[in-house]
Amino acid sequence: MAERLGGHGFDVVEAESGEKALELLDQFAFDIIITDLRMPGMHGTQVIEAARERYPGIIAIVITGYGTVKDAVEAIKMGASDFIAKPFQFDELLHVLHKALEQRRLASENAYLRSQLEERYQFGGILGRSRPMQALFQLLETVARANATILITGETGTGKEVVARAIHHNSPRRANRFVALNCSAIPETLLEAELFGHVRGAFTGAVGTRQGRFEQAHKGTLFLDEVGTMSTALQMKLLRALQEREFERVGDNQTIKVDVRVIAATNSELARMVSEGTFRDDLYYRLNVINVQLPPLRDRREDIPVLVKHFLGRFATDPEAHLSQSGMRALMAYPWPGNVRQLENAIERAVALCAGRTEITVSDLPPELQGAPAPAATPFVDFPDDGLDLPAYLASIERDLINRSLARTRGNRNKAAELLRIKRTTLVEKLKRLGAD
Ligand SMILES: Nc1ncnc2c1ncn2[C@@H]1O[C@H](COP(=O)(O)OP(=O)(O)O)[C@@H](O)[C@H]1O
Ligand SMILES: [Mg+2]
Repeated sequence: MAERLGGHGFDVVEAESGEKALELLDQFAFDIIITDLRMPGMHGTQVIEAARERYPGIIAIVITGYGTVKDAVEAIKMGASDFIAKPFQFDELLHVLHKALEQRRLASENAYLRSQLEERYQFGGILGRSRPMQALFQLLETVARANATILITGETGTGKEVVARAIHHNSPRRANRFVALNCSAIPETLLEAELFGHVRGAFTGAVGTRQGRFEQAHKGTLFLDEVGTMSTALQMKLLRALQEREFERVGDNQTIKVDVRVIAATNSELARMVSEGTFRDDLYYRLNVINVQLPPLRDRREDIPVLVKHFLGRFATDPEAHLSQSGMRALMAYPWPGNVRQLENAIERAVALCAGRTEITVSDLPPELQGAPAPAATPFVDFPDDGLDLPAYLASIERDLINRSLARTRGNRNKAAELLRIKRTTLVEKLKRLGAD
């Protein structure tokens, strides 16, 4: 491999172990590190971690054997740029290397621009300030860069499709197509032709030759929504397409090869379907290389105000439009079985019903929200099963409110103290104490 890479203009230095590689990295700032995962001595992920600590911009490529794909995913989480499964063609390695280099070039060009544009509470159009969403954004940032197949799971309306689009638009494939297919919306008999295309006369009604979604998504991303609804026969065909990246159009025997990244989504418990035998386990593992789980809205209620503001901006023509206090409390208390989609609909409806009033009230909300239990006067607190550290929790709320009041008053401590109904001296004391935490 070293020799062949040398022939392609790369300057290669070999190391016979992870330890040796780190020694070499001490002496020279390499651009790229290519490593196996399971080695005697240091594990590949440790090598990558140590290398990236020294050189955050280093490109790390993992070469992994069958059965260690899970490890490779771990490695991507640790910052590896991509992985290649053994056995592989040399061209594949070259392709991955050039892609990673190009990506890094673009990244450094864009880093400045991006830092200017980036908003804190969103990633590619997905909004969220809650802790689970912040963690999600970080995960998405990492997985978008890789090529691995992703399975997005979550209840209906949690944003599975927005997430799939965000991954595509933040991936090196963004210049190519994002093709979406809802597998449950198409009759089983037509689904195969929809996925792989068909030739003229393949079945009644197949008047011409048509490209399938896999072909349309060439060099881009294919989003397969509701994969849990597929028949076992079709699961088999999808498995092959995923494994070999090749398939035949219905009614044809010519093999077509494509370069497609697949993102699948489901709101059913595929894992359970696997144990019940209704979903192929091998396909499940192929799809579930990286799992992105979207939490239901009721588990991240801090996101509700952010989303409400966003949807008001979309639906209301009056820029001053806002929700009354009790309206917001009703939204915060409701369990949202339909998640963000239901919230979006509720706001759209409320905007239509409030007939141009600036303040939207409880009576503008859908009936199921008006009967909500007496809204609590205190904010909703997520209380984990294993409890929480009360003083630390209260301090974090205090710190958050103080920071927000200072932000709102542009750092004016007098006004900030006024907003919080405390004396300026108390505010200064608290700042000192919280800062020392
Ligand atoms: N985090 C979010 N930020 C902004 N809009 C969201 C978010 N999550 C969902 N939405 C919106 O909610 C609706 C449902 O999202 P969608 O991705 O179709 O859900 P799912 O596919 O999980 O049923 C869409 O209109 C989407 O734009
Ligand atoms: Mg959907």
